[in-house]
Amino acid sequence: MKNYDFVVLGTGIAGLSFALKAARHGSVALITKRLRDDANTSYAQGGVACVTSGEDSFDLHVRDTLTAGAGLCNEAVVRTIVTEGPARIQELMQLGVHFDERDLKSGESELDLGREGGHSKRRILHARDATGREIEQSLIQAAQAAPNIELLENHMAVDLITTGKLGFASEDRCVGVYVLNESTGAVETFRTDRLILATGGCGKVYLYTTNPNVATGDGVAMAWRAGVTIANMEFIQFHPTCLFHPARPSFLISEAVRGEGGRLVDEKGREFMGKYHPLGALAPRDIVARAIDAEMKRTGAPCVYLDISHKPAEFVRDRFPMIHESCLELGIDITRQPIPVVPAAHYQCGGVLTDANGATSLRGLYAIGEVACTGLHGANRLASNSLLEAVVVAHRAIEHVLVDIPFNGHPPHELALPEWVSGDAHDVDEMVVIYHNWDEIRRLMWDYVAIVRTDKRLQRASTRLRNLLREIQEFYWNFKLTTEILELRNLATTAALIVDCALLRKESRGLHYTLDYPETDDRHWARNTEIHWL
Ligand code: SIN
Repeated sequence: MKNYDFVVLGTGIAGLSFALKAARHGSVALITKRLRDDANTSYAQGGVACVTSGEDSFDLHVRDTLTAGAGLCNEAVVRTIVTEGPARIQELMQLGVHFDERDLKSGESELDLGREGGHSKRRILHARDATGREIEQSLIQAAQAAPNIELLENHMAVDLITTGKLGFASEDRCVGVYVLNESTGAVETFRTDRLILATGGCGKVYLYTTNPNVATGDGVAMAWRAGVTIANMEFIQFHPTCLFHPARPSFLISEAVRGEGGRLVDEKGREFMGKYHPLGALAPRDIVARAIDAEMKRTGAPCVYLDISHKPAEFVRDRFPMIHESCLELGIDITRQPIPVVPAAHYQCGGVLTDANGATSLRGLYAIGEVACTGLHGANRLASNSLLEAVVVAHRAIEHVLVDIPFNGHPPHELALPEWVSGDAHDVDEMVVIYHNWDEIRRLMWDYVAIVRTDKRLQRASTRLRNLLREIQEFYWNFKLTTEILELRNLATTAALIVDCALLRKESRGLHYTLDYPETDDRHWARNTEIHWL
């Protein structure tokens, strides 16, 4: 059994930010199932929404967030995150994160603020079009240099250990986690009183997603199995503009392209967003994604196009170097041609229910970043609010946990936990079964539980997922654990939670749109969808 003061699962912006602060107070195991920078953060293009200019205000940022959230944001949480943002951004900059600046006539410079859908002001801090990579690299460097942090790659969490599961009569609390060490194949026991889920989202639940392979809903699934409250999983954000190309199926074309004047057009070059919303291509994401879906269904075209070729080529190359290069490798010159795009699953707005400190319904367990549902996003996330949420809540979480679970607290650090027992489990003989189930889940979620839903499709998905979960549970017990089996189990669990929440909500709101209840029903549904195990 390994003992740590803090165990952090996940090495995106949320996990790294928390670990760096926690390391000032005690020992930290920083655990990631693949390599250290295999996190959604590394792929974030747009940037961090934060009020830094005199022309902007906290009130405007709060208002834009509440509008996008379609009546489900927690206004107090929104205000906290928005107003504490600038201090956290300063810290990122002190750690070496460089956001783009622009030169002023006076010879001085200021932050170059980008614009994205739903924002009434320019307020997106960015590093060209690779902001996440810039943040991730700086935080990883700092974590590697921090003496108290042990960074464990290729370690995948299996399940949380709670006093309830161990049969203790005391208050239920999180006391550790079982972790599969992929290089030895052994499941190790990590003992801690302070466990932080920073495992990101679940885009891989869907056939088409902007997310990397690691986004399999691990944190939500583990928290669910531990009896922790989960909320609002029906609100999955589909990014309107994922590149439509077989060689790069998950490549995001940042919303910032529309923010800088990119036009959404059909195959004949006709703009269509004006028909759907007064803000056109810069309407909130749910509206743009649904409009594209409707246009594709109406015309039978496999994609629509995002066109920025009317802007000076030098500007496009300088502002979007990564997108420009990546598209050019595929034969698309974005300075001259429109980019073929489709909507794809992008962000999980619900998750493990927390307060503004990241505290969950299970004492000792915190959730930060995309895995969490703090109340910031409500029924639809405002673009670029997520990196801000991660840094602000990571800061609040460390302050909260030090008071709530002091080092001299109870239960004692020495509490002995049972070791993992593998029994007579044998090696998986047919990987094809795992891959088949994986594909089936992603396809059925795309066909039945994506941008436009109905009760009938949701019921169909629910029945099939229940069968798959039973089958997957058999692998779990009969075969030696592998990352693939664990991811499949988590993927299926998370998919079922999305469907369960979607079936509960008998209205359309934000990202949940159903043909059976097309109106918003404020009388009955202006509230979270909260679910628990049993
Ligand atoms: C983008 O660059 O469009 C993604 C930004 C975000 O999802 O917040």
